[in-house]
Amino acid sequence: MSLETRASTPDLSVRIGSLRLLSPVLTASGCFGSGKEMSGFTDLHALGAVVCKTVTPEPRAGISPPRAAETPSGMLNAIGLQNPGVRSLRDNDLAWLHERDVPAIASIGGHSVDDYVRCAEVLRGTPGLVAIELNLSCPNLGDRGFMFGLAAERTSEVVRAVRGAVEVPLLCKLSPDVTSLVEIASAAVEAGADGLSLINTTLGMAIDVDSFTPKLSTGTGGLSGPAIRPIAVRCVWQVHRALPEVPIVGMGGIATARDAIEFFLAGATAVAIGTANFSDPRVTQRVADGIAEFCKERGIERLGDIRGKVNAQQ
Ligand SMILES: Cc1cc2nc3c(=O)[nH]c(=O)nc-3n(C[C@H](O)[C@H](O)[C@H](O)COP(=O)(O)O)c2cc1C
Repeated sequence: MSLETRASTPDLSVRIGSLRLLSPVLTASGCFGSGKEMSGFTDLHALGAVVCKTVTPEPRAGISPPRAAETPSGMLNAIGLQNPGVRSLRDNDLAWLHERDVPAIASIGGHSVDDYVRCAEVLRGTPGLVAIELNLSCPNLGDRGFMFGLAAERTSEVVRAVRGAVEVPLLCKLSPDVTSLVEIASAAVEAGADGLSLINTTLGMAIDVDSFTPKLSTGTGGLSGPAIRPIAVRCVWQVHRALPEVPIVGMGGIATARDAIEFFLAGATAVAIGTANFSDPRVTQRVADGIAEFCKERGIERLGDIRGKVNAQQ
């Protein structure tokens, strides 16, 4: 299906900077491969864009197992940014998505500002690449206390450097595990981010009481799924109130259209779905259809009309 024939009533298209996406439903990085893996299960054209798994300048093997553990209402993971490297993403996955006319957002990560800039330079001018998401919030890197998104100055530094290297819109993906998310979000926007992705996983831990050992090889890991949805909705709401003009891609525990609507009411422009893909590979399509249905039933002509429309007292 071509991009144009996907425009529909109600109007679910969204804008992130100069970028217009025809659907407000994206994939959350790391939970959908890079599109190819899921294409047999779901219609990639129902998505606004595929957000690919985070890549680094060189391939990474990731952390040794066990790397995932089930918890009540969610999962813990410590994959450690296993990836084939940015060149492989560009030459294989992004080329594959482009051939199929599926908009792609690359997610990039690293240990230094230079790592981010190197990734961005490799991606510059890649056909079909509509935006870059800076993963400033992976809780599973080698130096576990370190995330760029923990401090406003480091966030500004990396966003400014990447902004100078590429033209495409930049999304900044932030962690909820900070004292003032609004301060860090503001720093990202001032440094040139076109939008924010909220939220990455939140740091958690589970212990096997029979063996007395942590369930993940690293001890701690990132918690995702329904358990974090209230945290994510709170983050979107707080940031939207402070920065109402800034596009936000909301994510954290979305599994149904109603979950997604909660994010739009809190102030999200678009949503991304992660963990739910593991139990239902068709969830993105189901949520996209459900959002359209919700709008039709209520006579909402444009999804943007309900953005941030929660009736909160404060
Ligand atoms: C197994 C797994 C791998 C992930 N890998 C990445 C990643 O590579 N880059 C990233 O920015 N976020 C990564 N995330 C975080 C998700 O993109 C998302 O922000 C988070 O899981 C919250 O959404 P959810 O509750 O719908 O999963 C990962 C999450 C999971 C569960």
